[in-house]
Amino acid sequence: MNVLIFGDTVGRIGREAAAKILPELKAKHQIDFVIMNAENLAHGFGVTKKIILEMTEAGVDVFTSGNHVWANPGYEEIFAEPELRNIVLRPYNDLSNRGLGQTIIEKNGQKISIASLSGIVFMEEAKATNFLSAADEITARAAQAKAKISIIDFHAEATSEKAVLGLYCDGKISAFVGTHTHVPTADERILPKGTAFVTDIGMTGAHNQAIGGEFESILEGMKIGELGKFKIPEDGPVEVNAVIIEINEETGKAKKIERVRRII
Ligand SMILES: [Fe+2]
Ligand SMILES: [Fe+2]
Repeated sequence: MNVLIFGDTVGRIGREAAAKILPELKAKHQIDFVIMNAENLAHGFGVTKKIILEMTEAGVDVFTSGNHVWANPGYEEIFAEPELRNIVLRPYNDLSNRGLGQTIIEKNGQKISIASLSGIVFMEEAKATNFLSAADEITARAAQAKAKISIIDFHAEATSEKAVLGLYCDGKISAFVGTHTHVPTADERILPKGTAFVTDIGMTGAHNQAIGGEFESILEGMKIGELGKFKIPEDGPVEVNAVIIEINEETGKAKKIERVRRII
């Protein structure tokens, strides 16, 4: 099974770039399943039902998220519908307990477990609890559901947390991918016991701006110590960062992980 995973996809400009590149990647790499981190889909903050439907139409199967998932009240409408609630995840170790942190989806006769998890260092907004015990629960639930293929999106700032949890999950899941920093790392590899790993997939969003936000608006905010208020560019070049992971359906182990990076 070939799985395509987009990291944080930022605003309309990011959504449109992902939708544009999806058909080409699907055909070229025989993609069976698509995951996208949704925390920045709605103009940089959170998600709405309309946007989730737009991206499922474009070919995304399941959405992971992170610290910004609650930034838009649109999550309420999503979680109110069982079908959408099942495919839009909040971090599993998020204390709020709204929605789901893990889902099991059947695609092409194959059960796939997908989970969203949050780091702790510099992730105060997420109010996350111990991710090691959460990972244990996720792997146990996947095993119980007989899902051979299991994927965790670990949304975290600290590369150390990502390295440690990735190795902790090695051999227990098919793929462990990092998100949140919006910057791709070049350390993609198969870990010794067969889990595909990358510290951060990177974003799909405005290129040559401030990690997807408009440079000028973020600069002005930084000058007066007001962070978090910024614009998302409406046009200009977009970088698409993603990974494609080939997974053995019999063993659930990863065979290959490949990075995708395009400026369009
Ligand atoms: Fe993000
Ligand atoms: Fe984030």
